[in-house]
Amino acid sequence: MNLLNEMERYATDNNIPIINKMSSNLLIDAVKSKQPKSILEIGTAIGYSALLMAQYMPQDGKITTIEQDASRIDLAYDYIARAGRTEQIQLLDGDASTILSDLEGTFDLVFIDAAKAQYLDYLCKIVDKLSAGAVIIADNVLFRGMVLSEEPPLKRYKTIVKRLKEYLQFVNTDSRFTTTIHHEGDGVAISYYQGANKK
Ligand SMILES: C[S@@+](CC[C@H](N)C(=O)[O-])C[C@H]1O[C@@H](n2cnc3c(N)ncnc32)[C@H](O)[C@@H]1O
Repeated sequence: MNLLNEMERYATDNNIPIINKMSSNLLIDAVKSKQPKSILEIGTAIGYSALLMAQYMPQDGKITTIEQDASRIDLAYDYIARAGRTEQIQLLDGDASTILSDLEGTFDLVFIDAAKAQYLDYLCKIVDKLSAGAVIIADNVLFRGMVLSEEPPLKRYKTIVKRLKEYLQFVNTDSRFTTTIHHEGDGVAISYYQGANKK
């Protein structure tokens, strides 16, 4: 069994939410066509999507990935080491909302896959770190169909649904971004950043 298959099995057996097949196909396509030299991932879990992206990006490209759950961080370090990609993938340990404000460098591709209610906050914190033409991929933006549903969401999901709507509203109306929402899986928004001068 290869490492990614082993990780898929571990995630299923231990209820760890990793990217689903439909979203991962979109993610792989974006990485293949963009060929990003620098990737930022928000939400590492055990490192599955980071290792997936690493397979398709340029060999000298780098991934910065952020995770706050201690046990997942340990597993991610282990898997990244086993894949021989410790030089390529830097794992930052902590709350993305804090880490993003202090992050250095610019990013050609950003994969947002952490706290659903924080997506817009994450994007606002990194917008000045996007290279012109950068791709932003946000997973689960339709949140089990609730984001586009006419029915009011269950009370416990109200905030998530409201905030995801705000995220989509932002990337659909801010002239710096061109966005397509893919309805496959749990919904994936792919936005292209046109650069700071466009606003
Ligand atoms: C859906 S999982 C990520 C899956 C991963 N991208 C993959 O497909 O293999 C979301 C992860 O984000 C982490 N997370 C949630 N809020 C976070 C935050 N504020 N800062 C850092 N990590 C966060 C969770 O602990 C969880 O492991």
